[in-house]
Amino acid sequence: MKRRTFLFALTATAIAPIARAQSKPLKIGIIGSGRIGSTFGGLWAKAGHEIMFSDRDPENAKRAAESIGARARAGTVEEAVAFGDAVLIAVPYGALPAIAQQVGEKLKGKVVIDPNNPVPSRDGEMAAAAKEKGAAVSTAALLPGVKLVRAFNSWGYQTMAREANRPTPRMAIPVAADDPQALKVGVQLVRDAGFDPVPAGSLAASKAFDLGSSVSGKVMTADEMRKALSLP
Ligand SMILES: NC(=O)c1ccc[n+]([C@@H]2O[C@H](COP(=O)([O-])OP(=O)(O)OC[C@H]3O[C@@H](n4cnc5c(N)ncnc54)[C@H](OP(=O)(O)O)[C@@H]3O)[C@@H](O)[C@H]2O)c1
Repeated sequence: MKRRTFLFALTATAIAPIARAQSKPLKIGIIGSGRIGSTFGGLWAKAGHEIMFSDRDPENAKRAAESIGARARAGTVEEAVAFGDAVLIAVPYGALPAIAQQVGEKLKGKVVIDPNNPVPSRDGEMAAAAKEKGAAVSTAALLPGVKLVRAFNSWGYQTMAREANRPTPRMAIPVAADDPQALKVGVQLVRDAGFDPVPAGSLAASKAFDLGSSVSGKVMTADEMRKALSLP
């Protein structure tokens, strides 16, 4: 099966049956309608949120929206930013400077979910520096003025699609932010995607759960995650 066909089949499975959001439905703009973007768009739509997909290639955004149905639509990157109470950016790390140039001003003040991993072999030299510094802190420097939330970065999309909404105890996802409102929204969106949120401190502290860390790729309960990250 082609990657995108598989992906959209997975997303369609993930949205049935439709469930209700734990709290007030949000409008969520998504930049990057690939594996992570369409997986989380599907999970949030299932929880009752409204989604607008966007992508460099409008056909990707359209396909992702069509695979989800009534709660999803497609637009330009600018439209997705304007639409979102919160915005998920899910692109190769090396694309973040271009996105900052394109919509950085319009993202200021918005809650932005960042699952993006700097991978030097894919993203070049900027990624090596970002990895060293910590991914979230580096993303925050690229997008000044946004209320950044770090989450979903250290587990494969297939694992997260499989484990989402499992019977309790749910899979733990650590979530970090410097801004209290961003943390609150991040915790809600981790929960509504079907996971147990584990608040894990500041953006700087989120280096402890960067890709390649001791918890990366490990499916744990919240208690196990808190212990592994030495959280109270
Ligand atoms: N895959 C995983 O399991 C996983 C898990 C955790 C975190 N992550 C991280 O999440 C991010 C996304 O990964 P992914 O696997 O979802 O990647 P992906 O499947 O390759 O999707 C990325 C999407 O972003 C689009 N894009 C690229 N540049 C863009 C731009 N300037 N503006 C708008 N859209 C743009 C791409 O479009 P084109 O096809 O036109 O380039 C593509 O549709 C990465 O940083 C990755 O490290 C991935």
